[in-house]
This record gives sequence, structure tokens and C-alpha cells, in this order.
Amino acid sequence: MSRLLVCPPDHFGIEYEINPWMRMTNASDTKRSQVQWQGLIRTLEKEVGVQLKRMEAIPGLPDLVFTANAGIIAEGKAIPSRFRHPERQREEEYFEQWFESHGYQVIKLEPTLFFEGAGDLLGFSDVWFGGYRQRSDIRAYSRITEIFQKVILPLELVDNKFYHLDTCFCPLSGGELLYYPGAFDSYAQTVIESRIDKHRCLTVPPHEAERFACNAVCVNHHVVLPSGCPETMGLLEARGYKPHPVELDEFMKAGGSAKCLTLALD
Ligand code: ARG
Repeated sequence: MSRLLVCPPDHFGIEYEINPWMRMTNASDTKRSQVQWQGLIRTLEKEVGVQLKRMEAIPGLPDLVFTANAGIIAEGKAIPSRFRHPERQREEEYFEQWFESHGYQVIKLEPTLFFEGAGDLLGFSDVWFGGYRQRSDIRAYSRITEIFQKVILPLELVDNKFYHLDTCFCPLSGGELLYYPGAFDSYAQTVIESRIDKHRCLTVPPHEAERFACNAVCVNHHVVLPSGCPETMGLLEARGYKPHPVELDEFMKAGGSAKCLTLALD
């Protein structure tokens, strides 16, 4: 059974602006964000059948709810994130504590090496991809390659609306890739095309990419994605996946959706 780390939106809000989606004047509705988060949780537990671990929300850390940015976990080791923005650096100690108290071997990167966890590092069993330039530093990937002995192909993100790799790139369990090419520079697009067969690439249209269609959680043949992405759902269904749309627009105000709200623990 897959296990995911989540954090309730008890202290979620738009308290600063560190990506183009965030506007302090566009406040989140506390009640609605709770209801939407519970809807995601119910879908993951009841329809997809994943096991969820909940960490405690902390006052003053409105983005802690985006556990994808806690770090990266593999083989019992956890590399905690080193956030680019001081606003999110305050989360680092809580994520680190969670990893330590749950038995992971915590390996820290040097403080100046920005790395925003599973928000920027995603992949298949044989190859991982690392988003850089917006948040994570390309140099983090050579260090992480040493730690996990994994091939990591860096991909440059060129559109600040798609500032984390998981906003535009979603590896699926059957080896297909759901992605939005417009978020990448042309060299990164070539790298992706050279590693993944054309017939396995599911290209999301721009208007659905902007609704966070790629910010999806894939577990076996289930794909949990934000609602309002019918074309993406059609692409997934045509490949035998079962899409589960969930309303998450309160979190889009912070620049996140389904995938950002979870961290894979296995
Ligand atoms: N407001 C957060 C930030 O800008 C959103 C993080 C979304 N997380 C993600 N994995 N894409 O850092």
C-alpha cells in the first residue's frame, strides 16, 4: 500500500507572494480550504486506497500544507528541502523533525544548495528528473545522484507560473508522462523526448496546465487531479487510468494543487 504524508490546512493562507499565483489581496477562505482538503483526503483514502500520515500544522507557516516540498524520500533516507525563499525556510526544521522522528536517515544538503524536494524531483524507477532555475539549484542534483546512485536529468523551467517541476510534469505508473511542454526550455523538451517514447507522452493543453492538470497524484491506475480539466481526464482515460477530479481552487491561490499537498513516503 502506498503511503503519503499530508498536513491539514489549519494555518493555510496567502501571507506573502513568492510565485505569480499568490496575491495577498486574494485571501483564501478558511472554511473552503478545509472542506476541499478533506475532499482530497477522502478521495485518496477511500477511492484510491492509500495510507495517509498526517503531520501537525504550525501557526505562521501557511505553506506547510504543501508537503511535496518537505524533501525527497527513498530507500529509508530523507533529504530535507533547502528552500529558496526565506518565507519557506522556516518550514525546514519541522519537516526535518518529522523525518527524524519517523525513522528516516536524514541527509542534509549544504545550506546554500537550494532544493525543494519532491516538488522538483520526480521520476520513473530507472530515471529521475530534476526541475531547476525557478526554485531548486541544478547543483543539488549531482549531490543527490551521489546519495541515491540514480540518474537524474535536470530540466530547466522557464515559465514562472510553472515554478516547480510537479506543476508541469507528472510521471504515471504505467510509464507514460503527463506534461506541459511549454513550461520547459527547448533543450529540456529534447531531453524529455529522448527519454520517453512519443506515444507515451500525454501533452496537456495550456489552459488546463494553468489549472494545474499536471499536479496530479498517480497511484496504480488512479490519478487524482484538480477539477476543471476534462481534456486531461480524457487523455488519462484513453490510457486506462481512472481520473478522480477534486476541487482544490483554494490551494491554487497559493500556487498548488493535489500533488503539492502530498509527499510519497515509499
Ligand atoms: N506557495 C507555495 C510556494 O510557492 C506553493 C508550493 C506548491 N508546491 C509544489 N510542490 N508545487 O512555494
